[in-house]
Amino acid sequence: MRICVIGVNHRTAPVEVREKAAIRSAELAQHLSLLHNHAPCGIILSTCNRTEVYIAENDGRDVEKTGLKFFQTYLNIPDDELTRCAYVITNQQEVAKNLYRITCGLDSLIIGEYEILGQVGNALEAAEKSGMVNLLLRHLFQGAIRAGRRVREETGISKNALSVSSVAVELAAQIIPDLSKSRLLVIGTGEAGRLVAKASKERGVTQIAVASRTLERAAELADLLGGKAVDMYNLFDELGHCDIVVGCASSPHALVDAARIESVMKGRPAVPLVIIDIAVPRNVADNVKGVNNVFLYNIDDLTEISEANRKLREVEISRAESIIREELEDLNVWWHSLESRPAVTALMEKAEAIRSAQLNSTLKKLRPLTQEENDYLEAMTKSIVVKLLKDPVHYLKNNAEGDGDGIELIRQLFRLEVEKPE
Ligand SMILES: NC(=O)c1ccc[n+]([C@@H]2O[C@H](COP(=O)([O-])OP(=O)(O)OC[C@H]3O[C@@H](n4cnc5c(N)ncnc54)[C@H](OP(=O)(O)O)[C@@H]3O)[C@@H](O)[C@H]2O)c1
Repeated sequence: MRICVIGVNHRTAPVEVREKAAIRSAELAQHLSLLHNHAPCGIILSTCNRTEVYIAENDGRDVEKTGLKFFQTYLNIPDDELTRCAYVITNQQEVAKNLYRITCGLDSLIIGEYEILGQVGNALEAAEKSGMVNLLLRHLFQGAIRAGRRVREETGISKNALSVSSVAVELAAQIIPDLSKSRLLVIGTGEAGRLVAKASKERGVTQIAVASRTLERAAELADLLGGKAVDMYNLFDELGHCDIVVGCASSPHALVDAARIESVMKGRPAVPLVIIDIAVPRNVADNVKGVNNVFLYNIDDLTEISEANRKLREVEISRAESIIREELEDLNVWWHSLESRPAVTALMEKAEAIRSAQLNSTLKKLRPLTQEENDYLEAMTKSIVVKLLKDPVHYLKNNAEGDGDGIELIRQLFRLEVEKPE
């Protein structure tokens, strides 16, 4: 075993558990350094659909235990929830398959979504900055990103792609038939907030307000939409006037609770308030569900629409799966070459040392040769070495799997000093 992944995702854990495990981008560097206390190399991928920790073993430590310890210690998930909701993949091929499927958008709540490709890239970049990426992890993540791009380019999986944000607006449209007459409030101006705003505009919403912790950001997005910017301090005043709220701020705790919403509802006409909270951790406390005339949905409530989206893309999913198989085969070849690389290098170096020593001692016994004659001899002896070693090198590259018997055989036959791969 070389790489292992431990995680919770939207299929194994409800949002109540995922939000405990969620690591916001602002906290990623800090969590990578906590992980570093347990494992020299690792990458953390945390999105609204999952939190996964990829750990590369390189000093014989039990990676599975390390990952579980990290979840228990830093992510505030009680043991019983962890047992119920976490998965551990220790087979290297399966770890790769898991990451490739995620990056290609096949494991998302919204199949084919684009956002995950950038999120995987960000996870790799953050771990690189923290010095936590070794050759194995880098190649794995870069391969997954390549597969993700190919799937987007060569299949129709992301054609008219939906996002969690656009599906949230779709849900609003199902609840409120004429969105054009509704007032919508978006909380958050990051990628999710921008996508909500864009999708609402496309759906005909004309009255959009944008709230953010930093007023300038809210104003920037509101200007683009011809909407209104709202200071977070005035959030509750704005709630008094809107029909739909979409929560997508990266806050570590709920911004809206039942007590505040109750007082808001008392001060407004008796019209329903629909809240769709796609943030993980959630922006709106669960007890808001009990407030009269308030209809609260969270990201897990988007499943029905996402299932319909999946059905529409079934043919493309199987095309994407075959690209993933091809890319995984390439990764496998690279893994095997990694095992055999030190032996191949040792074999080539030994042969080259013998060739040049023999050629030099022969040249000393001959009359001085012209440059052209020297070049001929050089080329001829090199060609003999390459041709002689072609079969053993081929054998090494194809027999490096498993217990390394193939490498050992060549090492003994040629009396090679071979260092173990990293
Ligand atoms: N990205 C997606 O496609 C996507 C999809 C589904 C769900 N989500 C979820 O939606 C949320 C936002 O995602 P994002 O990608 O848009 O993230 P993001 O870019 O980090 O979100 C930035 C927004 O969150 C606000 N924010 C950050 N820290 C805050 C805090 N402590 N208190 C209040 N507001 C705070 C920011 O305010 P200022 O910048 O104004 O200070 C900004 O409005 C996350 O919970 C994520 O899991 C995202």
